Amino acid sequence: MAIGILLAAGSGSRMESHNIPKGFIEVDGQPLFMYSLHTFLSVEEIQKIILVVPNEKIELLKKTYKNDKVIIIEGGKTRQESVFLALTYLKPWVDDDEIIVIHDSARPLVSKKIIYDNIDTCKKHHACLTAIKAIDTIVHTNDCVCVDDIPIRSVTYQEQTPSSFRFDIIYNAHQNAIKYNILDASDDCQLVLNNQQKLYLVSGDRDNFKITNEIDLALFITILKNRSLKL
Ligand code: CTP
Ligand code: MG
Repeated sequence: MAIGILLAAGSGSRMESHNIPKGFIEVDGQPLFMYSLHTFLSVEEIQKIILVVPNEKIELLKKTYKNDKVIIIEGGKTRQESVFLALTYLKPWVDDDEIIVIHDSARPLVSKKIIYDNIDTCKKHHACLTAIKAIDTIVHTNDCVCVDDIPIRSVTYQEQTPSSFRFDIIYNAHQNAIKYNILDASDDCQLVLNNQQKLYLVSGDRDNFKITNEIDLALFITILKNRSLKL
């Protein structure tokens, strides 16, 4: 069994034409977060989903959306804080070896296969992330002025979500990060790597892209039309 954490508490500041939180932008009559929530709900191994939303949305959502598998909580100022609030909520009632699958609801086209593969890999190896082979060559810079490394493309990947961990591994990684004053990590896996934990790769999918700006949103709407995917 496993527990999902679905993050929808971000403001979407790079989505300039909308002034509502990104996860709540309506696409084909549904808020964006509902697409990945629906996919998570269809995975039998997921017993509960912690849906993390902004303060301004929590009351209305709790009144209008009810599902026994879904627990709605308020998020934090950063993605890292939103994840830690969900983990803190879970701490009193989950075992250390519970599998936690963390997903950005800004990736609405996550597939059931990716979620199943995360759970299977996490069962075997305790920590994993979803990624696809890098499409463009990745360039590394230390100072954002000069290039200091260009890794061979075949050994570089682009990270997606979900990423999945045994509860104790991800909880300890977050606690250590706070201890060392790391408070705004853009992803959980960096924190886990800082704890010398091995992370395994799960194959992602180009469709599992993140909606960041208007172009991404337009692409999502086009894909939905082509698939005529309705909830
Ligand atoms: N997220 C969250 N709580 C935050 C910030 C982000 O739950 N305080 C979630 C978002 O809802 C999103 C995921 O983390 O599903 C990935 O973040 P990102 O794409 O950066 O979304 P936003 O932070 O909302 O967008 P922006 O960075 O453009 O403001
Ligand atoms: Mg962000």
